[in-house]
Amino acid sequence: MRRRPGLAIRLVLAQLLVIFVGLLTLAAVSLAVGPPLLRRHLRRAVGTVSPQLSRHLEDAFLSAGGIALGIGGAAFLTAALVAAVLLSRRLSRPVRDLADAAGRVAGGDYTARLRPTFLGPEFDALTGSFNTMAEALESTERTRRRLLGDVAHELRTPLATIEAYLEGLADGVRTLDEHTLAVLGAQTGRLHRLVEEISLVSRAEEHRLTLARTLVPAARPVEAAAAAVRPAFQAKGVALHVTVAAGTPALNVDRDRLVQVLVNLLTNALRHTPATGTVTLAAEPADGGVVLSVTDTGEGIAAEHLPHLFERFYRADPARDREHGGSGIGLAIARALVQAHGGTITAHSEGPGKGAVFRISLPPADDRPSLQRSNVGA
Ligand SMILES: Nc1ncnc2c1ncn2[C@@H]1O[C@H](COP(=O)(O)OP(=O)(O)OP(=O)(O)O)[C@@H](O)[C@H]1O
Ligand SMILES: [Mg+2]
Repeated sequence: MRRRPGLAIRLVLAQLLVIFVGLLTLAAVSLAVGPPLLRRHLRRAVGTVSPQLSRHLEDAFLSAGGIALGIGGAAFLTAALVAAVLLSRRLSRPVRDLADAAGRVAGGDYTARLRPTFLGPEFDALTGSFNTMAEALESTERTRRRLLGDVAHELRTPLATIEAYLEGLADGVRTLDEHTLAVLGAQTGRLHRLVEEISLVSRAEEHRLTLARTLVPAARPVEAAAAAVRPAFQAKGVALHVTVAAGTPALNVDRDRLVQVLVNLLTNALRHTPATGTVTLAAEPADGGVVLSVTDTGEGIAAEHLPHLFERFYRADPARDREHGGSGIGLAIARALVQAHGGTITAHSEGPGKGAVFRISLPPADDRPSLQRSNVGA
């Protein structure tokens, strides 16, 4: 296939065309204006001259002017050509770099970045957007890899236990007694829960979750969540306070999903608060919406962990948290569900030993457009 001219050549040709048209115009105007001017000057300087002398002078003027214009034009064209080539190269290089970088990204190399071009705001916007896109893709790819590794890791422990028990049964080392059944049941239950949780987060993040929204007083889900965890709090000796501020507006939420989020937060708080500690579940009005918070007086969270808590499988203290049976997905579910409701969830802690606060902000119940959108594709 014949190779079509590139951007640099097209830019040079376009500039040469402009220069050529300029030169033609210059020559035409000079030819039209020059001779009459010469005749007028002659008349003023020496009066009436013979037609032969006038023609001779005019020819001399035209030939001298033509030579001067020709030499000047050639020098001008050479200089302009050099400038056009340099300028076109300068302008086409960022476009070539962009094509190369886009090709690398398409090939799976998300580390490709564009350098600043110093060619004005349009190019700055283009390189800025490209780099932002490449960073986002790189981070998604990192998360995907980590996620696959984490899922494999989480599946390994229950599967190994089930395998060991089945081998024991096959070898006759174990009998199918109550203990064996309980262990097998617990481990398959754990696998089942894990699969359900991963699927729930994925559906919520892809906006494929159906929310059965209804208008409920804020106290309803708050009290339901507290009731669900109260026995565990009593067993551990941690106090649970529930407060709903006067004037807290009603919520337009999927009640069961919101209770699930609050139970997740309360279970975390209980897990990380020693006996005699206190956990407070509160609801209060804020900017027309509602803020729900779970505050504990427990072990707190170091600053470096705070930005990662809502990532799937993230645990601040992996060994300890796994011991407690946590797989590090509870907060990822909480965030996905809160975002599906059009809300936000944040974590705060003054540091280890200083307790933690998890805050959910839900938009006003009459914010219909954004509420509808979160159900798209359900
Ligand atoms: N109230 C809290 N105080 C201190 N650390 C907390 C608190 N809540 C969460 N964390 C930290 O955040 C991590 C992530 O919490 P998340 O709920 O996602 O996972 P998990 O509780 O370990 O497991 P899962 O919820 O899946 O059973 C926890 O492992 C813990 O290290
Ligand atoms: Mg949890």
